[in-house]
Amino acid sequence: MATTLEPIAQPKIHQTECFIGGRWTPSVSGKTFETINPATEEVIAQVAEGDAADVDLAVAAARKAFEQGPWRKMDARDRGRLMHKLADLMEEEIDELAALETLDNGKPIRDSRNADLPLAIDCLRYYAGYADKIHGQTIPVRGNYFTYTRREPMGVAGQIIPWNFPILMVAWKWGPALAAGCTIVMKPAEQTPLTCLRLARLAQKAGIPDGVINVVPGYGPTAGAAIVKHPGVDKIAFTGEHRTAQIIMRDASETLKRLTFELGGKSPNVVFADADLDAAAAGAHFGLYFNQGQCCCAGSRLFVEEKIYDKFVERLSALNEKRKLGNPLDPETEQGPQVDQDQFNKIMHFIDLGKQQGAQCVNGGKRFGNRGYFIEPTMFTGVTDDMAIARDEIFGPVLSVLKFKNLDEIVQRANNTVFGLAAAVWTRDVGKAHHLANNVRAGTVWVNCYDVFDAAAPFGGFKMSGMGRELGERGLDAYTETKTVTMSLA
Ligand code: NAI
Ligand code: MG
Repeated sequence: MATTLEPIAQPKIHQTECFIGGRWTPSVSGKTFETINPATEEVIAQVAEGDAADVDLAVAAARKAFEQGPWRKMDARDRGRLMHKLADLMEEEIDELAALETLDNGKPIRDSRNADLPLAIDCLRYYAGYADKIHGQTIPVRGNYFTYTRREPMGVAGQIIPWNFPILMVAWKWGPALAAGCTIVMKPAEQTPLTCLRLARLAQKAGIPDGVINVVPGYGPTAGAAIVKHPGVDKIAFTGEHRTAQIIMRDASETLKRLTFELGGKSPNVVFADADLDAAAAGAHFGLYFNQGQCCCAGSRLFVEEKIYDKFVERLSALNEKRKLGNPLDPETEQGPQVDQDQFNKIMHFIDLGKQQGAQCVNGGKRFGNRGYFIEPTMFTGVTDDMAIARDEIFGPVLSVLKFKNLDEIVQRANNTVFGLAAAVWTRDVGKAHHLANNVRAGTVWVNCYDVFDAAAPFGGFKMSGMGRELGERGLDAYTETKTVTMSLA
């Protein structure tokens, strides 16, 4: 394993300004912020720092495009065609976009090129296909009336996204909003603004009318909060931390905005003794360490049946030792740096807590190398339900392995969390699989697999892991209002 990084060939940075009403503009205040390459800690570019004044302009542009522009009124099939065009342009630039994502976020190029980008393109195409299939019902009512419903676009959507899957989050948010005929004010995460801005350029090139998509880079408490409070914004779609969602809910209460939240988790991953243990070990490893552990659905509470605990831990340990860390632009690299110094510090703090509270650190536990925010793949055994590393979202490459005895106890322990985003179970026994699938309180349950995502499959959280669903047909609910029209036939 190399401890220093070769100089990285940098993709070109074209867009660093706000994108408002189809124009690239510096922030009103003239302020900028740095975006950092987490693999080298070097500044990549200065980006316009938008705040309330820029959000005002962006909302005005989005409102105008919604109310007067062609987007909402155009033939829905043409809206779908423009969305397909955007997906095609992304595909043409897939290597460049993947490199830019890796540069700004630190994720390995093999992931950005083979997972993030294809999933994002697929998501836009999936919703492009829905543009002309959003329709209401005719409803038999009492009396001499004809009643039907229309599903109308919700209006201006404020979309606030995190840094862990920057491009994919753009696609998850833009896809259903555009298909429904909404217009958009998006704030990308301050850690990773570059690919969102690049996609805005591609959207314009695809022919999506000016004002339909507006992007204001900046910080959460300023630009983000301004979007949430703005009376010209009809709904907020947010992905990030549950504590931020609590602030957003309060801030949105004044204008009673519609809200969809996709938040964090502490997802249980349950391995029964009868499972295919090679597949389960590979799945548990992938389910936690993928994307440097920075996944809302990371399988961070690994429950292993008592009788196979020791041998299963050995298999996991061997996988951890083999994991390749290094330059994320190297196609061989499996794990890159954490996104920034704050996340690095937060994770190291949890590693310390794990040690203090008596768990055994079997792998890792330290910084990797001397440059960039790299953390070794870390695994704790002997973890009990009350420890901080079993309760809180760590959002890093830290796996907590817990022991369980039987089916009866595991459902209760799996549900013993304020979160409910995802869960997984590994077993050859269909009965156990169904029992877990039916009784775990989580928005997604994977059986003998992990992190299987598809644009067609709804995703979202129970409990404090979220509100509403993204993806699939249900994902459109978040961007449409139902209007009931009743006509007298007398
Ligand atoms: P965050 O929730 O603060 O940031 C997510 C987005 O919200 C960013 O665009 C940020 O600028 C914006 N934001 C922050 N404060 C805001 C406010 N008051 N009003 C409106 N927008 C606001 O998450 P952060 O600080 O980046 O990470 C902290 C922790 O959150 C992580 O360690 C992780 O545990 C969790 N997280 C979960 C994610 C998920 O996918 N569920 C994604 C990112 C973080
Ligand atoms: Mg960055």
